[in-house]
Amino acid sequence: MAALLVFETAESLYQAAADRLVSLARLSQQQRGNFVLALSGGTTPQPLYHLLATSPYREQMAWATTHIFWGDERCVPAGSPESNYKMAWDALLSRIEIPAGNIHRAKGELDPAGAAADYAQQLAHFQSPWPTFDLVLLGLGKDGHTASLFPGPISSQESQQPVMAVTAQYEGRPAGRISLTPLLFNAARHIFFLVRGSDKAQAVQASLAPAGSEEQWPARRIQPATPPIWFLTPPISDL
Ligand code: 6PG
Repeated sequence: MAALLVFETAESLYQAAADRLVSLARLSQQQRGNFVLALSGGTTPQPLYHLLATSPYREQMAWATTHIFWGDERCVPAGSPESNYKMAWDALLSRIEIPAGNIHRAKGELDPAGAAADYAQQLAHFQSPWPTFDLVLLGLGKDGHTASLFPGPISSQESQQPVMAVTAQYEGRPAGRISLTPLLFNAARHIFFLVRGSDKAQAVQASLAPAGSEEQWPARRIQPATPPIWFLTPPISDL
C-alpha cells in the first residue's frame, strides 16, 4: 500500500520531499557510510534539485559520500537540453561540491543498446551485480509511464537485466532511451514518486487503484518491499 502525501502548494511538496530525502541520506550514511540515489528526469523534479543545492539543504547533505545515478536517460548528448543528466547538472550537481567520481552518468551520446550496456557495466562496477539504491526518485507521465517503462507489452528484459534500451514516443521528447528495470527499482530501500498537474490525475488514479493492468500502467510494476511515497499536489487529491 503506497503512502500518499498531498500538498496544497508545489513549494510545500518540494520542501517535504527535500526534508525526507535529507533524513534518508543521514540514515543511510550512518548505517552504511554512503547514500546511493537514483534521480528522475523530466521537468517535475527540477525545483527539488534546486532546493537541494540551496541552504539549508545543501549543507545538510554529505555530498562526498553521496552517489548519484539516474533511473533513466534519453539518448542525446550530455549537453543537450533534453538530457536528464544536464537538467540535474544545471539545477544541482554544478552547484554543490561533489566528487566527479560520485556522478554515475548514463552515456546518452551512445545509441540505446550501447548506452544500456555501458550503464550496466557502470552499475556492476559500483556494486556487483548492481547497486541497492537507498532512494529512487520517480516521475509519472500522463500515459502512466515511469522512468522509461512505457505502456505496452512488458519486455522479458525487465525481469532479466538491470538496464534496458527503450524506444518510445512521448510529447515530442527523444525516442531513444535507456531505463533501469523493475529488478533494481523493486530492490530499492525507498522510492519517492513526485507528481504534479491535473493532466496526470487519471494516471495517478490508475497507478494506485487496488487492481489494474501493469502493461497499461507501468508504475504498477514498481512494488518495492517498502511501499513508495507519492508526493502529490491537488487536484489529484480530489480523486
Ligand atoms: C524522462 C523521465 C520520465 C519523467 C516523466 C514525467 O526521462 O522523461 O524520467 O519518466 O519522469 O515523463 O515527466 P515530467 O516531470 O516532465 O512530467
